[in-house]
Amino acid sequence: MANTILSMKEHLDVMRGKRVLLRIDTNVPVKDGRALDDFRLQKILSTIDLLRKARARVLLLGHIGRDGAESLRPVFEYFLSHFSLSFIEHFSDDAVWPALNSMTDGGVVLFENARGEYGETENDMDFAKRLASFADIYVNEAFSVSHRAHASIVSVPKLLPSYAGPLLISEMEHLSRAFHPPRPFVFVLGGIKFETKLPLIEKFLDTADYCFVGGALAHSFFKARGYEIGKSIVDDGRHDIKTLLKNKKLILPVDVVVQTSSSAVVKKPNEILPDEIILDAGPETLKRLEILAQEARFLLWNGPLGDYLQKGFEKGTEAFVRMLAAREFQDGELVVGGGDTAAMISELGLIGKFPFISTGGGAMLEFLANGTLQGIEALKNHKRYSEIQKGN
Ligand code: 3PG
Repeated sequence: MANTILSMKEHLDVMRGKRVLLRIDTNVPVKDGRALDDFRLQKILSTIDLLRKARARVLLLGHIGRDGAESLRPVFEYFLSHFSLSFIEHFSDDAVWPALNSMTDGGVVLFENARGEYGETENDMDFAKRLASFADIYVNEAFSVSHRAHASIVSVPKLLPSYAGPLLISEMEHLSRAFHPPRPFVFVLGGIKFETKLPLIEKFLDTADYCFVGGALAHSFFKARGYEIGKSIVDDGRHDIKTLLKNKKLILPVDVVVQTSSSAVVKKPNEILPDEIILDAGPETLKRLEILAQEARFLLWNGPLGDYLQKGFEKGTEAFVRMLAAREFQDGELVVGGGDTAAMISELGLIGKFPFISTGGGAMLEFLANGTLQGIEALKNHKRYSEIQKGN
């Protein structure tokens, strides 16, 4: 047994004629029965294509939503517009086996939402065994779910010869640049989730050259400085961040866009009144970010710089996206991620200008904090298909 992860791409020969359970992330926004943003789905298409060309029988397994109530039919329709496949609507023997038995080499099926079944989110071993019984080989191509200890992520790989898909490997490689970056390394963090993001601020204040903290995260730092922050979103105050304020690498917004009772105005962070609310980064802050982006030899960005869902307050994040797009970073120089950030880049039609956009939200943050994920660890120490065949 090896302690390394096996790459699907390098072992396509063993997949010929085999049933390959490909765990993918199909958690995409849906409206009126259609997948609204196909960024994640598009990224999986080439992996499916590789397996089909290798004449594997591809069993797609994904989830949508938190509680399993939603159907993957819109995702099925999306895939159907790219290649032919059938939809397995239930995990019952009656629904699964006829579909699997009628598959031919190069064929594809998609299972209904895995989270709709008891056992997936509970990481139930019986459910994992059932999933494993459908296939000969397991491939994890769902980086963005690999922080979850769910049956299809951490238990199925204990039961089948397991491989990492190309997208999973690409995510690991690109995000790992942050652990041995070219310098100057600029880390830009925005968004809201203070609890999740504080460990990253602490880590990258140590290892990056500049650590810009924006979005709602910055409000907590303003508060720690003793500023009035009005009605702006702030963390619960359980964390002592005063010592971080002394770190010279920490860069906070120098101006912000504030909603007053009558209009939106630009103010310095120490000028906020009790009934005001900070909603975006100001122009001077964006100029400083532009200078940092010009200087950076590696820039890592996660999370919006303002409340981008409120009309008018998406401008800071949008300006930063455009700035980065214009800078024309090469592969390995720019890594961005986070659901909201990726969605905005996609809406602006600028995906092609970004050498790497992570498909991960929580998974990206956890990988950056810990250097691995449970789903990645589960791929280690497992036999290759050829070893199992020989009875080793
Ligand atoms: C995601 O959308 O980030 C992944 O699919 C994980 O989803 P979850 O946060 O509902 O587990």
